[in-house]
Amino acid sequence: MIDSFQFSSLPEIIFGRGKRNELAAAVNARGNRVLLLTRSYSIQNSGYSDEIISGLKAVNLELEHEIIAQEPSPSLIDQIVEKYRHSGIEVVVAVGGGSVMDAGKAISAMIPVEGSIREYLEGVGEKRHPGLKIPFIAMPTTSGTGSEMTKNAVISEVGEEGFKKSLRHHNFIPELAIIDPEMMLSCPAGLTAASGMDAFSQLLESYLSTRANAMTDALALQGLKQIKKYLLRAFLEGEQNIEARSGMALAAMFSGITLAHAGLGLVHGFASPLGGFYHIPHGVACGSLMAPVFATTIDNLLEQPDHPAIKKLIIISKVFADFKYKQDMEYLQAFKEKLIHFTTLLEIPLLSEYGLNEEGVQKVIDCTSHKFHPVTLSNEQMANVLKARI
Ligand SMILES: [Fe+2]
Repeated sequence: MIDSFQFSSLPEIIFGRGKRNELAAAVNARGNRVLLLTRSYSIQNSGYSDEIISGLKAVNLELEHEIIAQEPSPSLIDQIVEKYRHSGIEVVVAVGGGSVMDAGKAISAMIPVEGSIREYLEGVGEKRHPGLKIPFIAMPTTSGTGSEMTKNAVISEVGEEGFKKSLRHHNFIPELAIIDPEMMLSCPAGLTAASGMDAFSQLLESYLSTRANAMTDALALQGLKQIKKYLLRAFLEGEQNIEARSGMALAAMFSGITLAHAGLGLVHGFASPLGGFYHIPHGVACGSLMAPVFATTIDNLLEQPDHPAIKKLIIISKVFADFKYKQDMEYLQAFKEKLIHFTTLLEIPLLSEYGLNEEGVQKVIDCTSHKFHPVTLSNEQMANVLKARI
């Protein structure tokens, strides 16, 4: 018996090698004045920058270009929005990683409304966004956040009072996502690793989420199979292995759809305060915590052997296993070890490298939500998870 579920809309998706060539026509169909956002090292070092810009100019589009060099803050968004609010921008295009996607989504949503983005951020401001926006096209150059599929833009304020909060509205789902795996060939190994672990944790968390449904399960399971097959290859052979880049692009895209529809879990719960307080890149925070969070999650779930999430964890453990015909417990144990293996092989940094120490642990826990994690970890278990990465 399938539980009832609802599935909201997705962007139009154009996926495939070389599909970046369809950008200019897609933009042209939506307007004439274009704001292009890129992160300096993403397209400008990839050799595709000139191609993309000249492609847009070839169809006589009026092009404005801004660089998003870090995770977007409220002041960065406000500054860019202020510059273009009355300039007749008709299409916003983001070409880059998750930060550029989120910035593009936020800018396209803030151009038509007055005030600062702070006033509309969940848990920060009081205003409800009316959902007005400029058409937005997303073209990712990393395989990670899946932001090209979602309705929220994550905005970060760094420091003592730091936060990572969302600007969210159903209308903020991009009009179009162009996912060209060739755009990812030049993604540096460290970023490939961190963004790949982000996609991995998004798929696993949404698969085990208490809000998962038959559609998200199908996509998450398929995405996790791609992660098993391609994440390490994309890291080790990223510059030439288009098959691995393609598999990871699909996994990341699926992870964006599943997180948007099923929600996330404790790894992402931890990632928000870690990003806000210590400026730890999102993928690093997620990648660093996957192994200890899921080792403890498996231990807790084993005390409730009929819990649906333990059955799902066995399925995933079998996907990632390098052996067959063993007992369930052996698969679960091997999965715990596999997560440590991924973390080590992908050279995911410790959280202490970004300043987290024992004194900071409780403050992080106090600001951490379990989201839709299938079990609750005790305060002591959460502290041990963080201390495992100090
Ligand atoms: Fe994420």
